Amino acid sequence: MTGRNDHNVNNHGGNRQKRYFDKAYELRTTEETRRHYAEWAEVYDLEIGEEKGYRQPERCARALQAAGLEANAPVLDVGCGTGLSGRALAAAGYATIDGCDLSPEMLAKAETTGAYRRLFEADLNHPPLEAPDGHYGAATCVGVFSFGHVQPDAIDDILRVLRPGGYLVIGLNDHFYEEGSFPAKLQALETAGLLTLVNKEHGAHLENVEGSTGWVFVHRKG
Ligand SMILES: C[S@@+](CC[C@H](N)C(=O)[O-])C[C@H]1O[C@@H](n2cnc3c(N)ncnc32)[C@H](O)[C@@H]1O
Repeated sequence: MTGRNDHNVNNHGGNRQKRYFDKAYELRTTEETRRHYAEWAEVYDLEIGEEKGYRQPERCARALQAAGLEANAPVLDVGCGTGLSGRALAAAGYATIDGCDLSPEMLAKAETTGAYRRLFEADLNHPPLEAPDGHYGAATCVGVFSFGHVQPDAIDDILRVLRPGGYLVIGLNDHFYEEGSFPAKLQALETAGLLTLVNKEHGAHLENVEGSTGWVFVHRKG
């Protein structure tokens, strides 16, 4: 990157060479976010998964496993993107994974992973999700709570689709956690008895980006 706002194109040119990560922290509206991911889909796995060393998908999948969710339970991967989070769940032994996302271009990439039973478009900030009440043993939200992305109030409808005692696993970076609305929402849900904290762990978000750390939260519904 030559600067925060640059989308670098190297000498070989073309979309495949562009980089989008820095811009992701500047998104503020759903429309900006939708446009951003439409372009980013092609190189997201290369940039985030490989170059930046994205650790949250694996951390979240392991946290769910450690919490004890059985392997045959259905899991909803909320904001599944290109499927890095679904692939990590599959590698952890989960076989029934549905995914939803705002971006059709990201969903098209997720389809190619073969990790998902069902994929569907959804704007989490405009509930309800097209999913039945009480269906899922867990919902994972990996890298989706952020500026211009999914807002903390979306947790209400995600809880609706979880079975009683189902797990909510959220991985997010420090940047958005420190903004404050996310921990405030968790605290309100815990106080109301709608969520119970099982585990929280601080660690690497993007391993190859200096200072990029984040939280993984595991809660149970109820
Ligand atoms: C950083 S990516 C994370 C994708 C995937 N979970 C992962 O860990 O690689 C954030 C994803 O959130 C999705 N997203 C952003 N705003 C959304 C919204 N309002 N509703 C649903 N998905 C949204 C984006 O399209 C994008 O795929």
